Amino acid sequence: MIPSLDPKESQPSLTQVSLPLRGWVQGLRGNNHVQFLQLRTNGEIYQVVCEKEKLGEDLFKQIKSLPQETSLVVTGNWQENPKAPGGEELLLSSFEIVGTSADYPITPKEHGPDFLHNHRHLWLRSKRQLAIQRVRSELSFAIREFFRNDGYTLIDTPILTGSIGESAGTLFSTEYFDLGQAYLAQTGQLYLETAAFAHSKVYCFGPTFRAEKSKTKRHLTEFWMLEAETAFLGQEGNLDLQERFVKSVLKTTVERTKEDLKTLDRDPSPLLQYLEKPFPRVDYGEAIRILKEVGEVIEWGEDINAEREQILTTHFGGAIFIQNFPRAIKAFYMKQNPNDPKTVLSADLIAPDGIGEIIGGSEREESYDKIVERLQEEGLPPEDYSWYLDLRKYGSVPHAGFGMGLERVIAWVCGLPHIRECIPFPRMIYRLAP
Ligand code: 4AD
Ligand code: MG
Repeated sequence: MIPSLDPKESQPSLTQVSLPLRGWVQGLRGNNHVQFLQLRTNGEIYQVVCEKEKLGEDLFKQIKSLPQETSLVVTGNWQENPKAPGGEELLLSSFEIVGTSADYPITPKEHGPDFLHNHRHLWLRSKRQLAIQRVRSELSFAIREFFRNDGYTLIDTPILTGSIGESAGTLFSTEYFDLGQAYLAQTGQLYLETAAFAHSKVYCFGPTFRAEKSKTKRHLTEFWMLEAETAFLGQEGNLDLQERFVKSVLKTTVERTKEDLKTLDRDPSPLLQYLEKPFPRVDYGEAIRILKEVGEVIEWGEDINAEREQILTTHFGGAIFIQNFPRAIKAFYMKQNPNDPKTVLSADLIAPDGIGEIIGGSEREESYDKIVERLQEEGLPPEDYSWYLDLRKYGSVPHAGFGMGLERVIAWVCGLPHIRECIPFPRMIYRLAP
């Protein structure tokens, strides 16, 4: 194989891999003359060929009985082998054991998901898990690249907050010295809005927390959210930005993780086909009409659950925006729709194949009085939001933003049925360890 120098290739060409290799025994197989050792280093797996003839009886015996996950330093010579991962393998000349390992709990046999999640700290070393975390890393990098290239400034918003960002129903709270309750951030949005009035185009990217009681395949209690906020932007421009952003970062990520997607048996072509099509912008009222037409018992005003989201993405054959939701079921900061005051200028981006909502966003209410009215309706004390309300006093402008859940997007890229494998250490209602 001609070694590729493309830095985007997930596996560096062997000429770039410096010897010795320092890593762990992922697996070992072979016979009495030759053993093929799968060595994991830098998250990649290399084949190390161990020949009895070359090593001598004693060293060969030692290699043959190396337990899984023993750590080693090995050296030798690279040779071509089309059957080896990456097309090349290392012919072992010498090795040194760094750390022993015995009875490693995760073996090549099948384990149940509970067992694997209880051993998450070790499971991360498995081939599929290496691939998923690399997709996550590439996607995160592509997200930051997109916004940097688009002239956005990164603003790190606080995790400990004194005001509720989304809804009182899903808050983690803790005592905060003499100041009463502090909450773990459900969103960085309110802070990001203030920064948008400083920098015009801003984003934040970090962990957010929701005390979700639901045990679904798409809910974590700690998840990562990308949020962007743009001054002088309305609903249409916000949706244009989201569509351009999602298409760009997903294409880049797929391009950079081809080998990982192969490891996951994920053919990315259906995903790439979805990204070639425009995302239809479906009015909430229209979505309800379509759902009723196919026999769903749902009324205007109700939220659209995961099953119904899937009915709609199937109906349209891909990702869709559902826009202009009823005002009563959405957050207090969303702008009232001037053409239909019962609704707000909001939109959710729904991914197909059962992934569901990956983005929630809206134009923001500019009117001081309307926001105060909505806070009161939600039972939130306006005095806690005085700093936020200042935005509507000192140069209020139209502005809009959105938040994208990272793990749901990883599940989409990787074709995974559950988002819990998409984060290194998932936090769910029934899981806080490891
Ligand atoms: O729709 P949400 O609640 O929107 C906000 O938090 C806004 N403040 C964002 C903004 O406008 N700046 O959440 C945004 C996205 C959802 O579409 C979903 O992808 C993801 O965050 N999300 C979750 N992901 C995993 N587990 C959970 N419990 C999630 N809750 C929301
Ligand atoms: Mg939402």
